Amino acid sequence: MPKLIVVNRDGEERTVEADNGVSVMEAIRDNGFDELLALCGGCCSCATCHVFVDPAFADALPPMSEDENDLLDSSDHRNDTSRLSCQVALNDALDGLRVTIAPED
Ligand code: FES
Repeated sequence: MPKLIVVNRDGEERTVEADNGVSVMEAIRDNGFDELLALCGGCCSCATCHVFVDPAFADALPPMSEDENDLLDSSDHRNDTSRLSCQVALNDALDGLRVTIAPED
């Protein structure tokens, strides 16, 4: 069961666990973080699940689709570590991944 370290907008950090195949968005939402709106429910059409991902895991992340890239462009807070958390499924290679919930746009 991969562990995920979540940093909320107040800078508070909490470690949660999720099954393989669960998206980072689902893992965050299902563990009671209400800051991550994830309005579209994971269909890659809202960008309200924006997180910053620990660069140490860059190579283990799934590639970014064109849709995800375009949606992230709509955020004023995009940086090199930005991902839409619904597009990143957890697996053992991502055990210990640290993500920070991006500021609201
Ligand atoms: S939940 Fe809407 S894009 Fe991720």
